Amino acid sequence: MSYENAVEAAEFIKSKYAKSIDTVIVLGSGLGAFADDLENEVRIPYEAIPHFARSTVEGHAGQLVLGEVGGISIAVQQGRFHYYEGYDMEQVTFPMRTFGRMGIKNVILTNAAGSTSTEMTPGSLMLISDHLNCMGVNPLRGKNDERFGARFPDMTHVYDREFQEIVVAEAESIAQERFKNGVDKKLTDFLHRGIYCALSGPTYETPAEVRLYRLLGADAVGMSTVPEAVAARHQGMRVAGISCITNFAAGMTEELINHAEVMETGERVAEIFKELLRRTISRIN
Ligand code: HPA
Repeated sequence: MSYENAVEAAEFIKSKYAKSIDTVIVLGSGLGAFADDLENEVRIPYEAIPHFARSTVEGHAGQLVLGEVGGISIAVQQGRFHYYEGYDMEQVTFPMRTFGRMGIKNVILTNAAGSTSTEMTPGSLMLISDHLNCMGVNPLRGKNDERFGARFPDMTHVYDREFQEIVVAEAESIAQERFKNGVDKKLTDFLHRGIYCALSGPTYETPAEVRLYRLLGADAVGMSTVPEAVAARHQGMRVAGISCITNFAAGMTEELINHAEVMETGERVAEIFKELLRRTISRIN
């Protein structure tokens, strides 16, 4: 997937939306509702964008929405391309390549994830502080195009520290507003911070695998985000990542895991999640 293809896709998107955009949000499973809140929006189905693949998974609408939140123009990727769908990594990261060519500098990646920690319950959020790439492949494998970035990019701070501080501060003020007057809810019930471990999927993990990833340092497991985060950092973009904890990972409870539950939990936390996104966007722009 060449640099020229990304430039072509970027030019196409820019021809549909005149205002300049600094921030893109990628919405995970069950979290697509945020895109409905944009004002003066323009919707572009992925199949209309040159060189974009098509999203196949249920719960992913497969469109790019450009519009305003609180007067700030943003791009929202409603539905992403997952490795487990059979796309190669170049297709999975192509939207991020395109956003880079559009001049977008800030990226907020969201996803649904399973918790490997008893402390982090379904319905809470986890700010990603770092990741483990257990997908079995690096998204930058292959010939490097220096116009995107360096051959051996540094990954010390994939998740921008200043963005993390902003998300935590905004979560704290939301928590204070919502849980004030002695309501017995600590901030930690709502926003955690931890390591996101990306697996290729599409199966959920076995209980033995969950114990392994936990030992390796994972706080949450999921099937996305890392390819995009790596491609964004390769291009020098600043990244924030937020997981919606939709379930306890396999074997942590008696429950089995199913996609419907993942979607439902995403929808249940949609309001507080949208609020956190809105506030974060206003601070990072
Ligand atoms: N494992 C992997 N991916 C997921 C999970 C999980 O438990 N929940 C939501 N996405």
